Amino acid sequence: MITKAFPNLHEIKHPLLQHKLSLLRDVNTGKQLFNKLVYEITLILGIEATRFLPLRATKIRTPLEDMEAPVLAGKLPVIVPILRAGLGMVNAMSELMPAAKVGHIGLYRDEKTFKAIHYYFKIPKDYELRHFFICDPMLATGGTAVEAIKQLRENNVSAISLVCIIAAPEGVQRLLDTYPEVPIYTASLDRQLNASNYILPGLGDAGDRLYGTLDSNA
Ligand code: URA
Repeated sequence: MITKAFPNLHEIKHPLLQHKLSLLRDVNTGKQLFNKLVYEITLILGIEATRFLPLRATKIRTPLEDMEAPVLAGKLPVIVPILRAGLGMVNAMSELMPAAKVGHIGLYRDEKTFKAIHYYFKIPKDYELRHFFICDPMLATGGTAVEAIKQLRENNVSAISLVCIIAAPEGVQRLLDTYPEVPIYTASLDRQLNASNYILPGLGDAGDRLYGTLDSNA
């Protein structure tokens, strides 16, 4: 569903997705189930995010006859997780697109300024032929996503989509203002950010919950 306020946002309302997201948000969901749910949610989001991929006809032979069968045409995919939480989404995206290459963008947000700090960038070189799927579970202020897109654009990447599990209105607006042509696929547009720029109601720190590096259970 695209909302009028955010023409760049595809909020996927599939019941299985919504159910899995509720389990994911639950503070009592431990690391193992959290990882499994991120995988399953990303599979569904990935299917939606690739809905636009063009097809071409090719001749194949079934056991019964020849046919013109649709196969993928157009740009080859690159999966680009933003380190570290985005790594949790790579296996599901790779399952959907086994031939996809995987780039990596290392960004973290400074805890005082909330600015995105860059520390790693590696993408396949044949970018002109490829569609880049940036993966980051949480679109909060949008600072990290904007920086990732900026780096891809500086490397002449033109085709980009963003796949995130939860998005905050503040982050979606920032992307709309900066890169309105980049579509965002999410399971939920949440209410708002809190004073520490965590998403409400959200799910807490996605990286900590994926990798078991929480100080407490909160
Ligand atoms: N990153 C997270 O992991 N969670 C948030 O709520 C915001 C940013």
